[in-house]
Amino acid sequence: MLTLSKVSKDFVQANGSLEIIREATFSLSDGEVVAMVGPSGCGKSTLLHICGLLEQPTSGSVIIDGVDCTKFSDVESTKIRGEKIGFIYQFHHLLPEFTALENVMMPLLISGVSRKLASEKANSLLEEFSLLHRVNNIPSELSGGEQQRVAIARALIHQPKILLADEPTGNLDEENAKFVFSQFLKIARNKKVSVLMVTHNLELAEKTDRILTIHGGVAGAKPKAEHDAKTNKPIKKEVSKASNKLPRKKATKSHSV
Ligand SMILES: Nc1ncnc2c1ncn2[C@@H]1O[C@H](COP(=O)(O)OP(=O)(O)O)[C@@H](O)[C@H]1O
Ligand SMILES: [Mg+2]
Repeated sequence: MLTLSKVSKDFVQANGSLEIIREATFSLSDGEVVAMVGPSGCGKSTLLHICGLLEQPTSGSVIIDGVDCTKFSDVESTKIRGEKIGFIYQFHHLLPEFTALENVMMPLLISGVSRKLASEKANSLLEEFSLLHRVNNIPSELSGGEQQRVAIARALIHQPKILLADEPTGNLDEENAKFVFSQFLKIARNKKVSVLMVTHNLELAEKTDRILTIHGGVAGAKPKAEHDAKTNKPIKKEVSKASNKLPRKKATKSHSV
């Protein structure tokens, strides 16, 4: 569904360039749910943005659903995102002046779906998230957990094949995080969405198919999915170790590892 091949990312700064990701190679299979864990600043969000075509890698390739999207223009990337990718962030980013229902409808309205159909779809998705009684409330009238469930529903409304989540429960207390995550996982699995989720919560990460560990700074990840030879399903809870080197300032861009 999603493959990163030898993806590296440098950020150019005044005093040289900083290598954040080094030759990350990784595949997310159809319907697979993967947790990405690692210390703050090691490049998890950057990797997620590259997967979601929000940022281009310095080198390497990004293949989505069999299509090499590495060099896509903004317009092409936006189209792929609209068709295939949903995003969830730590902070819900709901539009404050719109109701829960309107927030969930929004992606459909933007893509030209009629108000009636968008409303029906959003209602039914919010029902799956046990939020029917909240559809007419604006975000400030909802609890943190409810806001996040609305944000997840909004990310799923256009039926993406891939869901990229950046610490989606990071802003919730433990109990709420568990509840939101279990509901999210159940619905994502029902819909057979492939999920790549950054989390600091190891208990939640354990419930996914595979944990991708990025540590020591650089996501020189070698996290290729290993599949069971018989079932062709990903082997559960495989922990992939990333390169153990710290990010470092480079004198030139041509530095290689
Ligand atoms: N646009 C940018 N320009 C320069 N440095 C950046 C930029 N975005 C992120 N970084 C740096 O890259 C590193 C990784 O950031 P990030 O991917 O947000 O890490 P994580 O999500 O694992 O905490 C950090 O050191 C951060 O400061
Ligand atoms: Mg981050």
